Amino acid sequence: MNILNCVEQLCSCFEQADLYYGHGTDNPWDEAVYLVFTVLDIAFEQAEADTKAIESREVSETDLQHIQALAEQRINQRVPIAYLVKQAWFAGLPFYVDERVLIPRSPIAELILHQYEPLISTPPARVLDLCTGSGCIGLATALVFPSAQVDLADISGEALKVAQINISRHAVQDRVNTVESDLFSGLQGTYDLIVSNPPYVSADEVAALPTEYHHEPELGLLSDDDGLAIPLRILREAPAYLSEQGMLIVELGYSWELLADRYPDLPVLWLDFDSGGEGVFAISRDALIRAVW
Ligand SMILES: C[S@@+](CC[C@H](N)C(=O)[O-])C[C@H]1O[C@@H](n2cnc3c(N)ncnc32)[C@H](O)[C@@H]1O
Repeated sequence: MNILNCVEQLCSCFEQADLYYGHGTDNPWDEAVYLVFTVLDIAFEQAEADTKAIESREVSETDLQHIQALAEQRINQRVPIAYLVKQAWFAGLPFYVDERVLIPRSPIAELILHQYEPLISTPPARVLDLCTGSGCIGLATALVFPSAQVDLADISGEALKVAQINISRHAVQDRVNTVESDLFSGLQGTYDLIVSNPPYVSADEVAALPTEYHHEPELGLLSDDDGLAIPLRILREAPAYLSEQGMLIVELGYSWELLADRYPDLPVLWLDFDSGGEGVFAISRDALIRAVW
């Protein structure tokens, strides 16, 4: 069987299985390509550059059996592909992932690819990725600001083991550190940029999520007070950890409307994204300490 036939067959199995897509792809064809190409170690760009050579390449019997075994787990147990192949893409970079961390998908990737312009005008010297999980946001930020010192903080020691794998993978051990910390409690000093994709899903919403999401650590999703408990703690505690010109950027997803309704006087800037996604705000330290909300 050649690669094209393999992807086509897998795509049709995924279509019939009525899977939920939300962890890196949004349709069965892309899901099949993601699985097959990762197992065969083919770069997506390589496929675009030489379509014919890729399509006609034969898939070995061993690879085929491996792909079939993973596809069965995808269909029968609803395990997201990223966990099956232990790899996710974020801001154009590969990250090791397993069930200790959320699968990267934050729209903050778009800000990183634009070096956070126009929100910040000079490269930050110290950056904090709060609630880091796999480390994707902090590491991608470290790579666009080659002089920045970056801390990756998370309450989960298990998540930080994954972040460590990604620090080594991207060879930035000299300037990126992990810190086990309940939000800011284990951190010291101030940061020019604090960026966070914290848990913001309410208990009712977590219970209603498709099975795929229940393979992710609940600690990465669940936040009390209708999802706002952790984001509100971040807003209240951040000023003490921001430098004078510091900027706070936080993702709230669809919970953004709740925050906006409850605190209409909070002067946050809600950001728009060309590639989709919503509910990310930015606020400077200055605006945060002056705000009455
Ligand atoms: C939504 S996940 C985000 C992971 C990663 N930043 C990303 O975008 O893929 C939230 C992360 O916050 C961590 N977390 C939950 N409560 C926390 C707390 N009180 N302090 C620090 N981290 C926390 C979880 O362990 C999880 O890794």
